[in-house]
Amino acid sequence: MIINGRPYRTVWMEGTVIKTIDQTLLPGRFEIVSLRDHHEVAESIRSMIVRGAPAIGAMGAYGLAQAVSQLDRGDLNEIERLKQFLHATRPTAYDLTHALNTIFEKIARESDLPAMQQAAINAAEAYADQSVEACRLIGEHGNRLIRDGDVILTHCNAGALATVDYGTALAVVRIAHYEGKDLLVYVDETRPRLQGARLTAWELSQENIKHLIIADNAAGYYMQQGEIDIVITGADRIAANGDAANKIGTYEKAVLAKANNIPFYVAAPITTIDFQCDSGEHIPIEMRDESEILSIAGKRVAPLTSHASNPAFDITPAEYIEGIITEKGIIDPAGIGRLA
Ligand code: MRU
Repeated sequence: MIINGRPYRTVWMEGTVIKTIDQTLLPGRFEIVSLRDHHEVAESIRSMIVRGAPAIGAMGAYGLAQAVSQLDRGDLNEIERLKQFLHATRPTAYDLTHALNTIFEKIARESDLPAMQQAAINAAEAYADQSVEACRLIGEHGNRLIRDGDVILTHCNAGALATVDYGTALAVVRIAHYEGKDLLVYVDETRPRLQGARLTAWELSQENIKHLIIADNAAGYYMQQGEIDIVITGADRIAANGDAANKIGTYEKAVLAKANNIPFYVAAPITTIDFQCDSGEHIPIEMRDESEILSIAGKRVAPLTSHASNPAFDITPAEYIEGIITEKGIIDPAGIGRLA
C-alpha cells in the first residue's frame, strides 16, 4: 500500500525484529512499532496494534520464526509451546492457526537448531509473500464484478492494513480504481473499534478513492434508497459449508442486502477457510472487554452502573453470500469443500 507516497507492507521483519504499523494510533498518528520477542508479538495481536485475519496470520508466522531464532535448543516441544502461546491471542481468525501450523511443519522437518531457524525464517517470508500475491489475485478476480460508476458498501477494515498488502474487499476496490473505474465506497464506521471510520477511510484517503463514512445503522437506509450496488466484506474464518465469520454487524448487512436484492460477497484468501469446521455454529466467537462499548475514544459514554456485552464477530450463513472471492476465483459458498 502507498502511505505518504511510499510503499509499505503491514508487517515485515528486519533482522530478528518484527515491524508493524500501529493500527491503534491511526489515523491520527502513523507509527511503526518494533517487536522484539514473542511476548511483544502476542501483545500486539491481543491489543489490536495488528488486526485483520491475514495480517494476524503473517504476524503469527513471523512471531514463531522470531521465537525459534531466539532458542538455544532445537526442542520441538518447546516450539509447540511457543506456537500455542501465540495461538491463544485471538480465537476467531483462522489465518493465525493456518500460519502457525505452516511454519511449525517446516520447522519439524529439520533436525538441528540452525536448520530449524533458517527454515522458520524462510517459511515466514514465503508466507507473507504468498499472502500478498493471494490478495492481489482476489482483487483481480473481484474486479470482474465491479462496473464503472458502482457504489460499494464495506464493513470493518478488509484493507491492506488487515492483510500484508492490498487487502481483500479493498483489493477489489483498489484494482477497480487502478483500472480507472469511477467508484464510491460507503464505509460502515464499525463500532466499537471504528475500523471503518479510522482505517478503511484512511486507506481510501491515501489512494484518493471516493468514499463516505456512514453510521453502522445507516446501511439499511442507503440500501433501501437504491444507493448500493454491491456489498463486499472480508472474513475471519469460513466454514466448510460456506458460513463466514466476520466483524460484528456483517450478518445484519448480509440480511439487509438480500432483502434489498443487492449481491453480498465475501472476499478472503484460502488461508481463511477452516475445512475442518463443518458450519458457522462451530466457529469460536471472541468476546472482548466491555470497556470498548462503554467508552468511545477513552471517554465513558454509558452510565457508570451499566455493563455491556461485546462479541467481536458474527456469522453470516452461506445462503446470504452470493460468492466468495478467493485467489482461485469467485466460488459459490456451497462449493467451498471442493477447494480442500
Ligand atoms: O477485530 P478485527 O479488526 O481484527 O476484525 C477484522 C475483520 O473483521 C476483517 O473484516 C477480517 O479480518 C477480514 S480482513 C481482510
